[in-house]
Amino acid sequence: MELIFATNNKHKIREISDLLDNRFNILGLADVSITDDIPEDADNLADNAVYKARYVHERTSMNVFADDTGLEVNALNGAPGVHSARYAGAGRNPDDNIIKLLKQLEGITNRKARFRTVIALIFNNREYLFEGKVEGKIIQKRKGTGGFGYDPVFIAKGYDKTFAEIPLSEKNKISHRAQAMKKLLEFLAQQPVSQ
Ligand code: IMP
Repeated sequence: MELIFATNNKHKIREISDLLDNRFNILGLADVSITDDIPEDADNLADNAVYKARYVHERTSMNVFADDTGLEVNALNGAPGVHSARYAGAGRNPDDNIIKLLKQLEGITNRKARFRTVIALIFNNREYLFEGKVEGKIIQKRKGTGGFGYDPVFIAKGYDKTFAEIPLSEKNKISHRAQAMKKLLEFLAQQPVSQ
């Protein structure tokens, strides 16, 4: 059965295809000729994910899922949250985002934060939401060269290394995205596959 992942990120598509044991044929946006930059203007992760999934479903009538992720910092009332990619400006520059984040947190001792991913699935014309999160804290200075985004300044609870210092295989066991994907996969595994 074909299932669209509303993304152009080939790495994400390959990752989930593997996890699904190829029971579902995962298609990216390019595979269904959607080249639009789908707007992500909502003020929360779930609405953004639902909007993207509906956008694709309306154009293809196919089963589809979309994800949206944000870093939520307690002392900043949940910012950057839904604005994580463009926190320091439209250029989506991860280094500038980290610089801005550390500046906002200067002198603040409560460094608690979490990554949260929401996945919206439209399956047989019904909508479902799956969420994953990982609690942790923002450190004072960046550490590590792996990962992406805010990884160099985020340490998950129970760890003493940032997401940019631990191997990807380790991050993938506990990450927000992995947990949301796991819930999606569990749901899909229960669905009868028809051709
Ligand atoms: P997206 O919804 O997956 O595109 O994520 C939005 C933004 O959140 C990204 O541009 C990153 O700034 C940040 N982000 C998402 N996932 C991660 C992660 O695993 N590590 C660090 N930053 C992340």
